[in-house]
Amino acid sequence: MKLRELLTLAMAAQVIVTAAALLASYAATGTADPRGFGTPQIVALLASAAFAVPLARLCTRKIETSQEKRTAAQLAEQAQVSAQMTQAVIKTALDAFIQTDANGVVLEWSFQAEALTGWTRQEALGTDVVNLLVAEPLRDGFRQRMMRLLPELSNTPIGIRFEASLLHRSGEEILIDASSTALHLGGRIIINNFVKDVTQKRAAEEQLIQSQKMEAVGQLTGGIAHEFNNMLTVITGTIEILADAVKDNPPLATITKLISEAADRGAALTSSLLSFARKQALQPAEIDVNELIEELARLLLATFDKKIEIVTRLDGNIWLAFVDRGQLSSALLNLAINARDAMLDGGKLTLTTRNVVFGVREAVAVGAGYAGDYVEIEIADTGTGIPQAILERIFDPFFSTKEVGKGTGLGLSMVFGFAKQSGGGIKVDSAEGRGTTFTIYLPKAETSTLRPAGYDERKVVGGTETILCVEDDRDVRQYVTVQLESLGYKVIPAANATEALAVWAKGTPFDLLFTDIVMAGGINGRELADQMVAARPSLRVLFTSGYAYDSPHAQGSATMGAPLLTKPYRKAELARMLRRSLDTAVDAAGDPIPTPYSVQDDVERFLRKQSSERDER
Ligand SMILES: Nc1ncnc2c1ncn2[C@@H]1O[C@H](COP(=O)(O)OP(=O)(O)OP(=O)(O)O)[C@@H](O)[C@H]1O
Ligand SMILES: [Mg+2]
Repeated sequence: MKLRELLTLAMAAQVIVTAAALLASYAATGTADPRGFGTPQIVALLASAAFAVPLARLCTRKIETSQEKRTAAQLAEQAQVSAQMTQAVIKTALDAFIQTDANGVVLEWSFQAEALTGWTRQEALGTDVVNLLVAEPLRDGFRQRMMRLLPELSNTPIGIRFEASLLHRSGEEILIDASSTALHLGGRIIINNFVKDVTQKRAAEEQLIQSQKMEAVGQLTGGIAHEFNNMLTVITGTIEILADAVKDNPPLATITKLISEAADRGAALTSSLLSFARKQALQPAEIDVNELIEELARLLLATFDKKIEIVTRLDGNIWLAFVDRGQLSSALLNLAINARDAMLDGGKLTLTTRNVVFGVREAVAVGAGYAGDYVEIEIADTGTGIPQAILERIFDPFFSTKEVGKGTGLGLSMVFGFAKQSGGGIKVDSAEGRGTTFTIYLPKAETSTLRPAGYDERKVVGGTETILCVEDDRDVRQYVTVQLESLGYKVIPAANATEALAVWAKGTPFDLLFTDIVMAGGINGRELADQMVAARPSLRVLFTSGYAYDSPHAQGSATMGAPLLTKPYRKAELARMLRRSLDTAVDAAGDPIPTPYSVQDDVERFLRKQSSERDER
């Protein structure tokens, strides 16, 4: 009953009782005159007052109980709202919520905790959190740490933050960042933990530090290698003229050979350095990596010790990759040779290919350029493995654990630079004593480009065509002119694009434009070729460069599918590339008609070079 109704009823009852008492007193005395107010009426009023007292008490109690009930209801309502709010906060928090008692027994386990750990709420409630989430050998240490933290936790209302590595239900290690607070409730301590998975974040941070370091070292090495390349182009080029001149003088011929070999080694070194610095002049094309790996596996089988078993696991539906074929075969060889060196007592080398689709997270984790489709190549060995302490240094140039003379420490630097410059990524997993797996990710090919034809490098074939030769380095220009003329070609030299365009404007006929890509001054070689080919689609173009300034994805278009001769080069290579360019069949629109290509030459040349270098040591 409402308060107001209760009071109205009580007052009405009191009026009725008083009136009834008065009426009764008049009836008893026989007087009906209300002015005759004597003792019986006083008695009647006293009786009525006596009735009023319990009535008032009754009402007061009623009012009190009703107020108490209301307060209790309000409190219950507030408590419910507060509990709902807490649940909502726990549910919507991005971090996992884990509540335990002081002994680590789980009291609450949020949905996010299920996602973080793989254990459901049902499974987790009532269990020991340490047993559930910490690897067996670390449990005692973890508990001791918890016990030490408990007093501190109880004394700080703001709680404490800590990092730990926990085990997911799948057995995978997860790195977490937790903030914990202690609550004293009814004589017991309750510990509330908000837990965040920072595994990916940490990996990304490490990746960033590593890539910044690589970037800095890369810039330095790239700059030096670039300068050396121009000098080597002159040396390797002119040495053959010298060799020709002194071929009847054995002592001088021997010296010339020594100079030539030293220049070759210098060229190999600068090439690795440029690769690492991601400044190698790449010529990406659509590559069937399965075909390349099958060929490589056959070669390895023939050259590696029989104690090493070679297994291939190739995905039959592998996508084409868009990379430089020669560089890819060098990279795979470097990895295979490292694997061989790690398995001196024999073992198994497994080459695997598969398609992968990366989200941003996965792409960042392997340092790949973008989220998307990649061709994955895995090279796994069962060798010595790489100690954790040196793992982060293996990609550094000149880092080697091999004896002096056995390794220069440039192999992995080259592989790293190549993968990155190609817009891909690289990852290494290693367990000491059990083996190492390197995985490289290459961008999937999107466009169709020319596959260069395999030419026999031993035969030097010249020609009689006219070549417009654009090169801004005076020494290199002079050398190339001499080389081209010695091959029978007619040469129109130009020191830059402007000079070349002037020749073009005069209408002087020529069959091929041979131009450096990177040139000082306004127009670069690529732009020059663009202008000329736009006017004459069937014009043959051969690019040369010692240094790639373009981003990897601009690379394919940097050469418009035309061949690229990388500096430094020998006369034979120059001759071969010229014939390749001049003899490439073109259709009416000037588009090259693709010719089949074999990687065999590249790989064999590489192996020959490797073994001759080893013999020399
Ligand atoms: N598969 C592997 N197993 C064990 N250790 C490896 C493996 N690959 C690389 N390493 C370690 O990484 C180091 C660097 O390798 P990298 O290929 O860059 O240089 P290198 O092999 O020593 O010399 P180079 O390749 O220039 O001849 C090696 O010296 C070796 O310690
Ligand atoms: Mg190596």
